[in-house]
Amino acid sequence: MSKMITFDEEQRVFHLHNDKISYLFQIEKGDLLSHLYYGQRIQAYHGQRQYPYADRGFSGNLPGSLDRTYSPDSLLQEYTPNGIGDYRIPAVIVRQENGSRATRFKYSDYRIEAGKPALKGLPSTYVEDGDEVETLVVTLTDDVAHLELELRYSIFMGRAVIARSTRIINHADTPVYLEKAASLQLDFAPRDFEVISLPGAHARERQMERTPLSRGVHSYESRRGTTSHQMSNFIALVDPTTTENMGDAYGISLIYSGNHAMQVERDQIQQTRVVAGINDYNFTWKLNPEDDFQTPEALVAYSPNGLNGMSNTLQHIARERIARGKWRDLERPILVNNWEATFMNFNEERLTPIVDDAKKLGIEMFVLDDGWFGHRDDDNGSLGDWFVDQKKFPHGIKHFVDYVHAQGLKFGLWFEPEMISFDSKLYEDHPDYLMQVPGRQPSPSRNQYILDITRPEVRDNIVAQVEKILRENDVDYVKWDMNRHLADVYSLGLAPDQEGEVYHRFVLGLYDMLERITTDLPDILFEGCSGGGGRIDYGMLAYMPQSWTSDCTDAYEREKIQYATSLFYPNSGFTAHVSVIPNQQTGRSVSFATRGAVAMSATFGYELDLTKLTAEEQEQVKQQVAEYKAIRPLVQFGDFYRLRSPYTTNGCGWMFVSPDKREVVVDTFHTQSSGQPCAHVTKLVGLDPQKQYEDLATHTVYGGDELMRMGLYDPLVHEDYTAKAYHFKARD
Ligand code: GLA
Repeated sequence: MSKMITFDEEQRVFHLHNDKISYLFQIEKGDLLSHLYYGQRIQAYHGQRQYPYADRGFSGNLPGSLDRTYSPDSLLQEYTPNGIGDYRIPAVIVRQENGSRATRFKYSDYRIEAGKPALKGLPSTYVEDGDEVETLVVTLTDDVAHLELELRYSIFMGRAVIARSTRIINHADTPVYLEKAASLQLDFAPRDFEVISLPGAHARERQMERTPLSRGVHSYESRRGTTSHQMSNFIALVDPTTTENMGDAYGISLIYSGNHAMQVERDQIQQTRVVAGINDYNFTWKLNPEDDFQTPEALVAYSPNGLNGMSNTLQHIARERIARGKWRDLERPILVNNWEATFMNFNEERLTPIVDDAKKLGIEMFVLDDGWFGHRDDDNGSLGDWFVDQKKFPHGIKHFVDYVHAQGLKFGLWFEPEMISFDSKLYEDHPDYLMQVPGRQPSPSRNQYILDITRPEVRDNIVAQVEKILRENDVDYVKWDMNRHLADVYSLGLAPDQEGEVYHRFVLGLYDMLERITTDLPDILFEGCSGGGGRIDYGMLAYMPQSWTSDCTDAYEREKIQYATSLFYPNSGFTAHVSVIPNQQTGRSVSFATRGAVAMSATFGYELDLTKLTAEEQEQVKQQVAEYKAIRPLVQFGDFYRLRSPYTTNGCGWMFVSPDKREVVVDTFHTQSSGQPCAHVTKLVGLDPQKQYEDLATHTVYGGDELMRMGLYDPLVHEDYTAKAYHFKARD
């Protein structure tokens, strides 16, 4: 007996509900699925939300019907096919044998399943305890094209989020070609939405943008073959009055790492449609008779408590039911990475003192970045040659790894497995592995090229090379990088009428490699990276519980990047390192303390030459390391709240609260000082108003109500880019 999904036979209404949310849709005339509501929990629906039919000019009607008031063009719908007189953006387009792209899917059947099935070839949210999730599968059919559509909706106990995906099955006896297959469509009755999106660039990822939704179609998308720095696959729809802590917020993201389109359309009568999924740019998928196509999963969270409420739901489900493996629930080691310290100019001798210092300072892992393999002294070659450079490690890399382990540190290693250089043994042996269009010279980027990992033999080669290094050298951690975007998208392994599949097959190939390596080597901690944060998405999170947030390590820039990333990504899932000043990307100089406070708000580490620190800086590192160890469970597994936006104010603030509300860490940042500064009050959120909290630095005790309602003045400082951190514990 289903607890969270009901079907009212009389009204023909599906109702997915838990203690926080209700999602309702209805089978309407013509067997169309019409959307009724998604929002706060409704106990029972009494039919009052009937769509107000009206005869609207140039909005056509159902075939064979004389009812001019009923139009697919105005109805709020669940998943709209193409070509049937709904002129808004469609969710699915299928080109059939006769050249037609029109389909008319009608409701056929439904079933409710306990739990949720895994998606073929794709990561998705999962179930640990069978009771925590229920899945509604609604089947629609097109009897002319002989196609079946399965809309899947999963609802989780206690979580304000719905997971959706679509499966399309071809029952015709000839192939059809999918030209679009969205994961989700969500229609809204008229309201003045604003859209939050996360555009960016390399070294300036995820800049929060909030704009009123105007008429027309707005598409937040990637055509780069991967999630990209330029546009994340997350959007939020909010009311103009929504703040961090009040008002409606809908957060939508995909469990996917390829081309995406998050489309939002405000239609002729101010209704809003969201269609999210794989970008239909250069996409076609040949579906042979009885084959099926599974879309990636989309998540849509709802909160009546503002953006913090929405982020809380998304951060929790991402951390607890997308991230997987042993490291999901383990505290992540504090690392030092040699990239900004040495770049590729190192050898064992040069690295050893950094390891010694790391041990002295309490750091827990040494990560060897790019440049250890092939003959890679600069970034012009060797990608694909995943064997150790004997020049840099004359005794083999194991000798060095053993040394690192003997100091009590873990050892991590950098890879860029999806790439190939012309100057590599791999290219000499297998020039056809390089993704390229026959007869055309492929376009370089960072003087490197893409491997055609849509082909199984290419994946096998790379997986074997990577696993060999990892196994033979007792590697504890892998940084999996991707330093260019796709071009010359073509596979020698596919027929001409399947070349539109390459973008998606590239992602499926990547997931296959990751699935194999993470299953074969379950103890290794994986960190995702793509020239910084170019591939921060829920798909990668399923394999890599953490990802490098940005190649920009400047503390002020990081405030903005991390603030926006936290909208949908858990803080344990993104990494932040203290680096040198002047900062190598911006030239800005920010104090050690502020650099530490920003980096300690995520999964923490250092990216500098420890041997060059002054005695005073070494002391600061020791202190930061000790401090981070004390707050690590809270930062990595607590509830996170944004308090003050660096995008709209002269400062920034955020905080972490333990699940039992007994421990609290608060960070406030001040941006630029002024001759006559204005004071700023920081009010905390998420505390127990009845509890008494002690500031561990001053031993002053405050009521939770006091901290939330009256707040604390930030210090007035005569310096740019300062930070103030508080650590509170509840008193019994
Ligand atoms: C990318 C990463 C960096 C570093 C370099 C190495 O840019 O984001 O952290 O690993 O590659 O080439």
